[in-house]
This record gives sequence, structure tokens and C-alpha cells, in this order.
Amino acid sequence: MYELNLEINDFLDTYWQKKPTVIKQGFSNFIDPILPDEIAGLAMEEEIESRLVYRDEKDQWQAECGPFESFEKLDSDGATLLIQAVDNWHEDAQQLVRPFRFLPNWRIDDLMISYSTPKGGVGPHIDNYDVFIIQGLGKRHWRVGAQQALSEFAAHGALKHCEHFEAIIDVELEPGDILYIPVGFPHEGYAIEPSMNYSVGFRAPDQNDLLSGFADHSIDTNENAERYGDRVMQQREKTGQIETQELQELHRVMLANCATPEQLIPWLGKMLSEAKHDLDLAPPDIAHTNEQVIDALNEGVQFIRLGGLRAMYFEQNPSLIFINGEQFDFEGCSELGQLLCDQDEVAGELLAHFSDNQQAIDLFTALINKGYWYAL
Ligand code: SIN
Ligand code: CO
Repeated sequence: MYELNLEINDFLDTYWQKKPTVIKQGFSNFIDPILPDEIAGLAMEEEIESRLVYRDEKDQWQAECGPFESFEKLDSDGATLLIQAVDNWHEDAQQLVRPFRFLPNWRIDDLMISYSTPKGGVGPHIDNYDVFIIQGLGKRHWRVGAQQALSEFAAHGALKHCEHFEAIIDVELEPGDILYIPVGFPHEGYAIEPSMNYSVGFRAPDQNDLLSGFADHSIDTNENAERYGDRVMQQREKTGQIETQELQELHRVMLANCATPEQLIPWLGKMLSEAKHDLDLAPPDIAHTNEQVIDALNEGVQFIRLGGLRAMYFEQNPSLIFINGEQFDFEGCSELGQLLCDQDEVAGELLAHFSDNQQAIDLFTALINKGYWYAL
């Protein structure tokens, strides 16, 4: 269990999305949840996204994508191995995300872990997500600049860098220290000693993500798309002109299916709950029955939400539960659905939701049989 030493309200008021900060000994007596060897093991797996970044003999930046078969580069200085979404694959590492659940689930992206040899780092860059970087093993020197317009360029096909920046934070992180960097602040970190870093990232879609996502959804689902029409047509003098009311009508047609926030719910719920990285899904070989699930709960068994599984609901319509890109109707048992989204693990408290509610137990058993919740 990791306990975060942080005044959450102060942090949210002063720093969250506003300015970077170092949380010295955010985790006291920090113990790495995973070993460098295990990181290398994960980087050998096909379904796991990994990258190796280093500078070659000519001091040129290089980036290779996994899976890897061997790791010679990690025998020398100046190399970093990065693994995406380790929370989907490693239960102990997943524990590191929990202390940050004071922020909403839907904003949490993934836990990225890096192992760097001395001088290793990915170079100066700007991320499009907020991140808490936890120092594990070793020490790393970090510089963070003010939010500013910096030119960005490809240091390598798979590595975007930014130009040099003045540091507003220049710090050596030790095990248990946390560096919070809001979206858009340039930063770079280089290991002083062999180093493990844990990055808990927070995604926020931009306008283009939202518009293109909604457009894709509309193409897939809107078979009878409304078409612009102008039955009331009058002869006009300026045929080269698009009249104001025509522009207004085009605008109306374009936004007719997304004119209110509520209209976005089915699409947004699916999109935000979709996993960006593969999940370690292992549905039970033999489907569980409702009776087995109830017996297990009566015996005190805890059910854990699969690492990286995204489950959420909207305040406006809390009986629609979105899990892993799918919509579930929890009408009549919406409190159960909300509990499953709000808690990482559930146990005997579920029983109260099941009494006299066949639909509730059916739904929960179905989620277990999909491998979304599993017994500890
Ligand atoms: C790293 O851990 O090397 C990279 C983390 C980051 O800068 O976002
Ligand atoms: Co970064």
C-alpha cells in the first residue's frame, strides 16, 4: 500500500494544471513495486508497448520500439527503456496508481515505467498530459521549464523534442520524491544512477480528438443522417453569396446530434472508457454462476477491478455504466454500477445490492465472466 504525503486540497488549488512542483518524499520509505529485470521481461511481450531510447556513438538520438529480445544497450550509460500501461499487467505496480485516485478515474491514463542507466533520459520534450513522475530506485536530475511557446522537432522518427528552455525547477529526485508536471510544461530528466521512474499520466482530449471521435461515431451509427435542405427558395440577386440563414442552417444540421451535452453521453462514455492499451483479460474458463458469486462474497472474498479497466458514469444519467468501451444499463441497480466505478475493489457490501434484485447479480456475474472483475 502506498500512502501519498500530500495536502490534496492545497495541491489542487495551487498546482494542479497550474504549475509544476516537487513533492519531496511524497512516498516515505518508498519500495519499488517492480524490479528492472521484470521491466525487461515486460518489454519482451508482444502485447505490451515498449520503447528503448538512447544516444548512439555519434551522439544522435535513437528510439526503437519493442518487443525486444535482448537489452545490450542497457549495459551502457545513456539508455532508457520505457513501458506503457504497466498497471494493465502488473498488480503490484498497479498499486502506485491508487494514491492518485483523488483525481477522477476518467482522467487517469496509465502508469508508464522507465528504467534508465546513468545519463539515460528521453531528452527535452512537452507532453500532452499531466503527469506525476515518481522516483524509485536511484537518482535522477530533472529540469522543468515554464509553459511557453517552444519549437518542437523530431530528434528521431519516434522522438519529439523541444528546443532548450530555462529551468524553473532544477532538482535531483531521490526514491519516494514526486515531480508533478502539468500538461504543456517542457521537461527533461537524466539518470544520475541506474534509475526507475513511474509516471502516472492524466489524459485530456483536445478539440480535434473530440470532434474527430464524434465524427467517427456519427459515420458508424447515424444511418439516416439529416441532410441540408432549402425547400423555401427565393430568387436572389447575389447567387455567389451564402446567406446568413443558410450558414445558420448548415451549422444547425451539423450540430443537430451534439447540440446538448446529454446527447454526447452514449458516445463520450464509450470513448472515455475504451482502453488505449491492451488489457490482461483472462475470463474464467468455466463461467461463474450467480450462486457461486454470492457464496464467495458471503465468505469474504474481494473482487478487484482488472488493472487499467476503465469504468465510469455520468452525473446526469448514473444508471448508464460505461465499461471498457461498452454501455451497460444498470437501471434499477444504478447504485451498484456506481460502486463498481467508484471503488477499485468490492466485497460483501455488494450483497445488499443483490437482495431481491436479479438484474443486479446477473450484471455483476456477467462482468466477472468477462474477466473485468476477479476474485482476490
Ligand atoms: C521517463 O521516465 O524517462 C520519461 C518520463 C517523462 O518525461 O514523461
Ligand atoms: Co514527459
